[in-house]
Amino acid sequence: MGKGSGFGKVILFGEHFVVHGVPGIVSAVDSTTDAEVTKTAKGITIKDERKGAKGYAEEKKAQQTESIERMLKTMGIEPQTASFSIWLGGNLPGFSGLGASAASSVAIARAIAEEFRMNLPDEKINEIAYEAEKAYAGTPSGIDNTAATYGGLLWFKKNMSGGPNTIEKISIRKPVEIIIGSTGIVANTKAMVEGVAERKKKNPQKYDLLFKQAEELAFMAKKALQDFDLRKVGELMNENHRLLQEIEVSCRELDHLVDLARARGAFGAKLTGGGGGGCMTALTPGKELQKRVAKAIEKEGFEVLRTKIGVEKL
Ligand code: PMV
Repeated sequence: MGKGSGFGKVILFGEHFVVHGVPGIVSAVDSTTDAEVTKTAKGITIKDERKGAKGYAEEKKAQQTESIERMLKTMGIEPQTASFSIWLGGNLPGFSGLGASAASSVAIARAIAEEFRMNLPDEKINEIAYEAEKAYAGTPSGIDNTAATYGGLLWFKKNMSGGPNTIEKISIRKPVEIIIGSTGIVANTKAMVEGVAERKKKNPQKYDLLFKQAEELAFMAKKALQDFDLRKVGELMNENHRLLQEIEVSCRELDHLVDLARARGAFGAKLTGGGGGGCMTALTPGKELQKRVAKAIEKEGFEVLRTKIGVEKL
């Protein structure tokens, strides 16, 4: 049997903008999706035991099948003749926005590689997971699979000419508490990404300006993180949420949870990931503040993940 894991992630700055070459900042969270792969005699079977938001696994089934086919082709395995069983589990919840699809792709790729004795380096795993991500996100930036493969806090910039992406580690003084709140709405990242591309094409003037602001914001956020100026990081997260509202990827529920987190003292809050449902995140340094904000969101019936950004080794 082959085993593998992939990290969940939270995008702190630049989701959607990264797809078009703007830099983004992502942190792995301390939860993983785990996979086990065992050779069998008849085709590919999947047993998905991830704890998920209701409907997540069903909703993503077709995309999951396509992603595994893409992955196998990239690994030089013919999907039609491949025969193995996949088990999926781990402590990463299947909320949209936590990079669950990328985490599972990395976990499965690692488990297949181990079962078939392929001995693949992380760069290759990342490449395979990127191909798999296309099934979920259409034209993904690669930020999710990069975080799922390497973990840590990362600066990411997609190379728009097809060359290697920029991936740099960001070091911060110490890990910082955040919360991730789920709207419970299963969002379709692919449709959200396509929507932004369409609107950008229709309204280039407005969008060029917003994309420029997103780029400046990413650089300021990197500096604020390195300076450990958490108030500034929070302010920039608020500003990032405003830009995401402008490109129409937020929704009523996300805005509500963002407002709630800010009202309870979060340093900053924004949607994270594809939007249109899925998750938001709030910067809540210290256990006390993290608890207060998490409780306020849970009290309204939403699920919350308490985690940290900037954890060196997970
Ligand atoms: O919704 P998620 O967790 O898959 O995050 C998607 C992030 C996007 O920037 C919207 C897409 C991408 O490929 O970067």
